[in-house]
Amino acid sequence: MTVLAIETSCDETSVAVIRNGRVLSNVIASQVELHSEYGGVVPELAAREHLRKLAPITRGALASARVEPAQIDAVAATQGPGLPNALLIGFKAAQAFAFALEKPFLGINHHEAHLYSPWIAGDRADFDAFQLNVSLIVSGGHTILVQVLAELTHVVLGSTIDDAAGECFDKVAKLAGLPYPGGPEVDRLAVRGNPKAFEFPRPMLRDQSDDFSFAGLKTSVRYFLEKNPNLLEDAQRMCDLCASVQAAIVEVLVTKTIRAARRLGVRCVTASGGVTCNRGLRQGLESACRDERFTLRLAERQFCTDNAAMIGVLAERKLMHSTRKTSLDAEILPGMSLAEAPIEAR
Ligand code: KG4
Ligand code: ZN
Repeated sequence: MTVLAIETSCDETSVAVIRNGRVLSNVIASQVELHSEYGGVVPELAAREHLRKLAPITRGALASARVEPAQIDAVAATQGPGLPNALLIGFKAAQAFAFALEKPFLGINHHEAHLYSPWIAGDRADFDAFQLNVSLIVSGGHTILVQVLAELTHVVLGSTIDDAAGECFDKVAKLAGLPYPGGPEVDRLAVRGNPKAFEFPRPMLRDQSDDFSFAGLKTSVRYFLEKNPNLLEDAQRMCDLCASVQAAIVEVLVTKTIRAARRLGVRCVTASGGVTCNRGLRQGLESACRDERFTLRLAERQFCTDNAAMIGVLAERKLMHSTRKTSLDAEILPGMSLAEAPIEAR
């Protein structure tokens, strides 16, 4: 089966071609530069840029996969969650492709695609290695802990009650005057910093629920910087600040993920989403899983941030296991939650 997949939920225009579990192409045009001067994603600009880029990116993805439109068996696109106007561009274009090619169409939940992205290894989907797992999805907009009961069957254990982990990274970076997007900057500076230099709160660490909260941590960094305004001029203390904030975020994410896996008797942990690029988080999960003798599957860096390969890989698995299709008249679902993602039994 050959699937053409489109992802335009936020600020990356991405088109991928997947064939029988192989990622034939995965072209990503990031809009980081466009939004950086505003310090965050401007939804209207994002939509216009998707509109401008989608046709050339699609042509590029087909060309690098050496696939002709007539060889496509199905078309998939992100249906939600995401920025409404951004989603609309990719979703409606994908429906139009499916209509023109007279092929089935499938709308995909963006988080569900992140959830299964750790099973993509290099250029192919590696579902032979699949194990039941507890999975952490950490992106700019969401922090979700999920139990995967079987391939394509999962329950949400908890999520953030306010800011997401990525949002916390980005907002702290902004307070510290670092360029957008802040997460990768904090990561870069943290390498040279002392994570024990400053003590920041670990919100909800001892709370028995699987929910997260990061707004308080951000606020405590704001107060800390108000009291220590000169810190921003000292390169080493800036690195210490980044390392200390990162350590607080990572400790909460790692502790709660491992605790959920232990409680549920699950011996495999996975992680995905943009924040999974973070070196502190990768190392934290690696060392905790080593101690617990858990199997760890981290999404590869190229599949952590938004990409169409994860959309296409999930779409292909769904088309293999179920006959469900999405109507060509279906609408985007900007507020779609993972709990609403249609669950298919095998
Ligand atoms: O999954 P993603 O690309 O987009 C959403 O669906 O939100 O995640 C983007 C988020 C941003 O908040 C960005 O700052 C964060 O991931 N991020 C990082 C790193 N790389 C990306 N956060 C911390 N360290 C990183 N290395
Ligand atoms: Zn995402």
